Amino acid sequence: MAVHYRVTLLPGDGIGPEIMAVAVDVLKFVGKRIGIGFEFQEALIGGAAIDAEGEPLPAATLEMCRNSDAVLLAAIGGYKWDSLPSHLRPESGLLGLRAGLGLFANLRPAKILPELINASTLKREVVEGVDIMVVRELTGGIYFGQPKGIFVTETGEKRGVNTMAYTEKEIERIGRVAFETALKRGGKLCSVDKANVLEVSQLWRSRMISLGLEYPDVELSHMYVDNCAMQLLRWPKQFDTIVTGNLFGDILSDAAAMLTGSIGMLPSASLGEGGPGVFEPVHGSAPDIAGQDKANPLAQVLSAAMMLRYGLNQPEAASQIEQAVLRVLANGDRTGDIMSEGMNLLGCRAMGDALIQVLEELKS
Ligand code: IPM
Ligand code: MG
Repeated sequence: MAVHYRVTLLPGDGIGPEIMAVAVDVLKFVGKRIGIGFEFQEALIGGAAIDAEGEPLPAATLEMCRNSDAVLLAAIGGYKWDSLPSHLRPESGLLGLRAGLGLFANLRPAKILPELINASTLKREVVEGVDIMVVRELTGGIYFGQPKGIFVTETGEKRGVNTMAYTEKEIERIGRVAFETALKRGGKLCSVDKANVLEVSQLWRSRMISLGLEYPDVELSHMYVDNCAMQLLRWPKQFDTIVTGNLFGDILSDAAAMLTGSIGMLPSASLGEGGPGVFEPVHGSAPDIAGQDKANPLAQVLSAAMMLRYGLNQPEAASQIEQAVLRVLANGDRTGDIMSEGMNLLGCRAMGDALIQVLEELKS
């Protein structure tokens, strides 16, 4: 094999292991054909790690991720761990992984696939052609700002505190990723903030404006977050690339995702400066259908494609996988979450088989 990559797999919880198995099969198949060798190594994260090791991100997991070329993550969390204190919850494993690998840039595409246009809850004319990339800052803002905690005041009352803070450096580095991303797409960047109220947003906006001077080919605009939420539902086609902070990005990327009708279709990439990126579906661990072979593996498979494109710089392999996904949908294959009349209902495993079959055909 001409090239060889070490990939850490983090199947996590719920439907994670099922959808991961499909993505690994697809990667192996495409890798073999194109001449890319994968060495897969697996580690625990989230609830699975809590059960086995008593913590959501064991040091060995972070170490293994650091020593790999890319990390493919499935999903974490479930009812079982919901009542644990926050540092022991599966979610803190995910936040620890992001911070530990310095993954400050989260790319969340929301693109309508023509085959699934009826899956959207919005009208066809509103969503047809939507193709948005949300660039979310991932290791700063209110998720990580200090002070944070629940403190007891002088009167004995409890007070919960989080702090939304960004340094100029943090704003600039996510800004650069966003401008570069916009350049490779439609050339439009909308920076979303709450500068009418928050000082942190005023700094955000002024740094984005300065950075914009270095990117004359990108059309920069600004929007308040509440307006952006509304505009995403009103006329989403006005957006090309969106850049925003951690919390606003968390919320807006879910809204953007749902424009496409199924959150079960959307991948994401989390990137840092140089080291391995983490590639994961936007959806969660769906504990209600775990182990029943009902899950939609396509977001996981598309995350593997994003890993090839953004993490390993293998665009040809990535586009073969993306084409295969479009092809199975065009063939009428559907999992339950995207099922509609007249289509073939498949389980998770069978959807994986359908992908491999289509990939075999792509070859000839
Ligand atoms: C996401 C999730 C996470 C977040 C949770 C699970 C910690 O909602 O990736 O969007 O808030 O970032
Ligand atoms: Mg979220």
